[in-house]
Amino acid sequence: MTDREYILGTREQETLRLGIQHDAWAPMARQCWKRAGVAAGDRVIDLGAGPGFAAFDLAELVGESGHVTAIERSARFVKAGQAIARGRGVRNVDFIEMDLMTDAAPAGLYDASWCRWVASFVESPAALVDTVAATVRPGGVSMFHEYVDYASWRFSPSLPHVEEYIARVMQNWRDAGGEPDVATSIPPLLMERGFTIEHAEPRAFCVRPGDRLWTWISTFIDSNLGRLVELNVCDTSWARTVRQEFLVAESDPSTLMITPMVLEIIARRAQTPPLSS
Ligand SMILES: C[S@@+](CC[C@H](N)C(=O)[O-])C[C@H]1O[C@@H](n2cnc3c(N)ncnc32)[C@H](O)[C@@H]1O
Repeated sequence: MTDREYILGTREQETLRLGIQHDAWAPMARQCWKRAGVAAGDRVIDLGAGPGFAAFDLAELVGESGHVTAIERSARFVKAGQAIARGRGVRNVDFIEMDLMTDAAPAGLYDASWCRWVASFVESPAALVDTVAATVRPGGVSMFHEYVDYASWRFSPSLPHVEEYIARVMQNWRDAGGEPDVATSIPPLLMERGFTIEHAEPRAFCVRPGDRLWTWISTFIDSNLGRLVELNVCDTSWARTVRQEFLVAESDPSTLMITPMVLEIIARRAQTPPLSS
């Protein structure tokens, strides 16, 4: 089966990784949704939802009187998400397979939009924000968690091979048409489309081995090194060196890691659209 993969792939290993990543970031996502006022009965659109891990938590938050529409380009992720929904008996989430860059926004207006770790992988953040503007109702809210300073991902003591790996990851995303530090471009795009920024906050953490956020990163390094070898971005011997350096650091409980910085953005759409000049 061919799939419309993004740069990190859409196979089962990536589905599992996205689940671990969501578990680590779910507390921050929930804080964001609460701050934005997402509540029971709301209709929410999740843009670039993957297999829908956040969409299912949003569905629980909005309850049976609310609804979540999960937009995703990968047919594999859509199928995986639909299977999870069936398995859990979730009835208030639906998945739409669509490309945010080329397909028309789904009809209907939503109370809120959620978009996490998608803007770094699209060729046009403006087209992504166009979809936000087309789907969020006047007075509704738009929420993003996107990377703002990927190279803030550092270690103490420093790990030169892992830091070279981080630079290659950033280059790999750029070579694929994305931008790791995309988040600074989003507030102006939202404001041009009649949104007011209600809240913007950098989110980075300093963690040690064993922390949930450490596990998020270790899972990423593990699966992504394999992916970079598969994509011929590096060879197996270099990948082994990076992995080994990371594992040695992980075996020392005093190692510190600063996580790649995410920007939380909460923006509200004006009640009445701005007058065109
Ligand atoms: C890093 S994953 C994040 C998934 C999910 N938002 C989460 O936080 O778990 C990026 C997702 O964006 C999707 N994506 C990338 N480009 C897309 C596009 N043009 N249209 C729709 N989805 C896209 C990918 O298929 C992938 O599921």
